[in-house]
Amino acid sequence: MKNLKFNREMAQLALLQRIELASPLLKKLRKIFGRYFFSKVFSKYLIDVEKITKEYSRLMMDEFSIILPFLKPNQKILSIGSGIGGLEIEIMKKFSSTKITFIEKSYISNKIKYGWDESNNEGYNKLSILEDLIKMNRISKDQYSIIDYDKGKFPDDTFDLVISLYSLDYHYDISIYFEYLKKTTNENSYIIFDTIRPNYFENFFKNLSIIKEDIDTVHKSKRIACNNFKKYD
Ligand SMILES: C[S@@+](CC[C@H](N)C(=O)[O-])C[C@H]1O[C@@H](n2cnc3c(N)ncnc32)[C@H](O)[C@@H]1O
Repeated sequence: MKNLKFNREMAQLALLQRIELASPLLKKLRKIFGRYFFSKVFSKYLIDVEKITKEYSRLMMDEFSIILPFLKPNQKILSIGSGIGGLEIEIMKKFSSTKITFIEKSYISNKIKYGWDESNNEGYNKLSILEDLIKMNRISKDQYSIIDYDKGKFPDDTFDLVISLYSLDYHYDISIYFEYLKKTTNENSYIIFDTIRPNYFENFFKNLSIIKEDIDTVHKSKRIACNNFKKYD
C-alpha cells in the first residue's frame, strides 16, 4: 500500500466507506447539516486527500494482517462489498497467483445511513473507481473480475475464501447471499465477515472463530471466520 495515490473522488469514497476516517470537524458538520450535505458536499470538498490516503492505507494494512492466516497462493477469493478495494489490492499484490471476484454496488446514496439497511438500498461505491485503483496498482487483468450487484450474473464458481468486511450482515442481512454462498463454497472454504450476532451463525457452520472485535464503535461488531456449512453432515 506504500504507493497508493488517491485523487479527490477516491478519497471521498474511502471516507464514505470507512467513516472512522472522518475528522472531528466533518463529524460535527454531519450532525449540524445532516446526511445529504455530508454525503454530497462536505465529504468531497472538506477533506485532506493526502491524510485520508495515508490513513486508509494504514487501515488496509491492519486488515491485511488479520486476514493473512487465511491466505495461501493460488486461491479463488470472493469479495462482497470491497469498497475501493484497498485490502484486496494488497492481497493480489502479495499473492500474484490469487484470483479475486468482486461483487459490489456502483451507486452512492444521496444520504448515506450507516445502520442496518433492511431493504439493502444503501450503496457507497463506484465500480469504475475500484477498477482504476486496481489498474493504478498494476494488477494483471486476469487476476480479477468485477460484478455489479444490481446488473451482473453471479459466477458459478467455487471459492476458497469469501471476504466481506463491514458489508454482509453488518449493513444488510446475509440472507440475500446465503444460498449463493452455500453453492459456491466447499467444506474447506472460509467465509469472513463482521456481524453483531456471531452466535446466530453457530447454527449454520461447524467451525466458527472470532478474529476481530470492535468494542469502541457504535455497532460493537465481531469479525468471524466461518467454515464448513452444516449442510455437509
Ligand atoms: C462500509 S463499506 C465497507 C467497504 C470495505 N469492505 C471496507 O472494509 O473498507 C460497505 C460496502 O458494501 C457495499 N454494498 C452494499 N450493499 C451491497 C451488496 N448487496 N452487495 C455487495 N456490496 C454491497 C457498499 O457499496 C460499500 O462499498
